[in-house]
Amino acid sequence: MDLSPYKHLRFLGLNVNSAAFKCLVLLVAAFVFTTVMLPSFSGFGGIAPHKSAIVHGLLMGSDSGIKKRRFIEVPQIVWGLNNQKIAFARACLTARMMNRTLLMPSLSASLFYKEVDLLKPISFDKVFKFEKFNSLCDGFVQLGRYSELSNRSDVAVLEKGTGRKWTNERDLDQLRQFSNDSYDAYETIKVVGKNPFLWHDHWPVSDYARVFECLVLVDEISNEADRVVSRIREIGRRFSSEVESLQNGGSTESSVEPVSYIAVHMRIEKDWMIHCKKQEQRLHLSEICSSKQEIMEKVDRIVGIKRPIVVYLAVADSLLEDTSILEGWKEGLLPFEKKKLGVEEIYKKHSYLIQSAIDYEVCLRANVFVGNSFSTFSSLVVLERTQKMIRIGTSTPCSSNARWPSYAYNIRTDSRSKGPQRWMTNMSDTSLLAISYGSNHTSC
Ligand SMILES: *[C@@H]1O[C@H](CO)[C@@H](O)[C@H](O)[C@H]1NC(C)=O
Ligand SMILES: *[C@@H]1O[C@H](CO)[C@@H](O)[C@H](O)[C@H]1NC(C)=O
Ligand SMILES: *[C@@H]1O[C@H](CO)[C@@H](O)[C@H](O)[C@H]1NC(C)=O
Ligand SMILES: *[C@@H]1O[C@H](CO)[C@@H](O)[C@H](O)[C@H]1NC(C)=O
Ligand SMILES: *[C@@H]1O[C@H](CO)[C@@H](O)[C@H](O)[C@H]1NC(C)=O
Repeated sequence: MDLSPYKHLRFLGLNVNSAAFKCLVLLVAAFVFTTVMLPSFSGFGGIAPHKSAIVHGLLMGSDSGIKKRRFIEVPQIVWGLNNQKIAFARACLTARMMNRTLLMPSLSASLFYKEVDLLKPISFDKVFKFEKFNSLCDGFVQLGRYSELSNRSDVAVLEKGTGRKWTNERDLDQLRQFSNDSYDAYETIKVVGKNPFLWHDHWPVSDYARVFECLVLVDEISNEADRVVSRIREIGRRFSSEVESLQNGGSTESSVEPVSYIAVHMRIEKDWMIHCKKQEQRLHLSEICSSKQEIMEKVDRIVGIKRPIVVYLAVADSLLEDTSILEGWKEGLLPFEKKKLGVEEIYKKHSYLIQSAIDYEVCLRANVFVGNSFSTFSSLVVLERTQKMIRIGTSTPCSSNARWPSYAYNIRTDSRSKGPQRWMTNMSDTSLLAISYGSNHTSC
């Protein structure tokens, strides 16, 4: 028998002696009992399974299995943009596992992750569209607002452990334990702990991808990305029409196609170099770090690119003062970073988080993307570009003429062209770990 509360409204006109009516009376009694009596039970596991099964039945909302008025609360999400996206997705997938709605969390506008008071919380809906998220993710995960809570103190606390002893298995066991029906009596399960979603990974890549797909930037930020992208295309058009007018003897024919550009996520700043050299030693690999020279050579060897073409360099701010990154590019490759593009003022208005969100968007929309397979930023850009390719129905995403290609400049290739390695995300991978924290597997 289906215990959905709405189904039972139909039974109200039935004979008092009918089985259905008796059932309804029992249900109402059970409901009164559970709502009036249960809050006085304290501690975990103090609720007998048969009562909570009825609560469970009454709570089931839509087909997705998400329970009505049952929530998960999580601490502020921290670190860089991409770590925040991953942690947010994990919070969503935790809520999904428990069939609960995730209370809209705070993100962090700044990167000062070691100084908690500098973490500058920023509401999720100041960065991503809230309603849009819920409509795109309908049936998968849902976000709720704190105003939907009927009782803010009706909370069970889920304290996540930390440190070496807190293994992936223990983390998962705990999530399973809190998914048990016996927690249905609590309106909210509150996750506490130090950055509880940064480390442990329990879900396949496709689940993360499903959440990322629902993250749409608010107009205020995507308009800024539009401005940067149009500036890049405008410069590209100027150069290509100069070439055309030379070739056509003066007639300038503006093409209708938006002007192409390449985005290169260039990781060569000092902190990264120190980090990647250490990683190379630790993993016994020699292909994590790439020098500026190596990156320029790889980009030059990409086949099938019509030159001249703008190469947008997504670089750390510390490199903006270093004009040498703009020098040494081969003919027809026109390097620009935000300073030379004249868009620095667009970025400067915003916090660290928004600045990276704009850069991310510029890389996402590039006709060609070239990144480092050991960077989380690059990896997530490639994941979204792979989804984009799948959506337009690319059957041979690794072929040289596929749209939206991505490349990894740090991987050595055997091919004679010595170009960069083609790169796409393996959507059947069983964990995000395999693709997001550094890998030499590029699935092409
Ligand atoms: C849920 O918790 C109850 C009571 O603690 C226990 O008897 C039951 O086995 C648990 N169910 C699952 C699926 O773990
Ligand atoms: C969540 O809902 C699904 C579908 O209704 C159900 O199969 C699953 O057992 C539920 N899980 C929990 C933890 O309630
Ligand atoms: C809210 O929940 C707490 C804890 O379960 C309970 O003690 C309190 O009576 C509830 N308040 C209301 C108004 O239901
Ligand atoms: C993708 O991942 C699945 C699961 O780990 C694996 O079986 C498959 O070989 C991978 N495909 C490629 C192209 O790497
Ligand atoms: C990737 O790294 C592993 C070691 O972790 C190495 O054995 C393998 O050859 C590398 N693959 C490629 C394509 O370089």
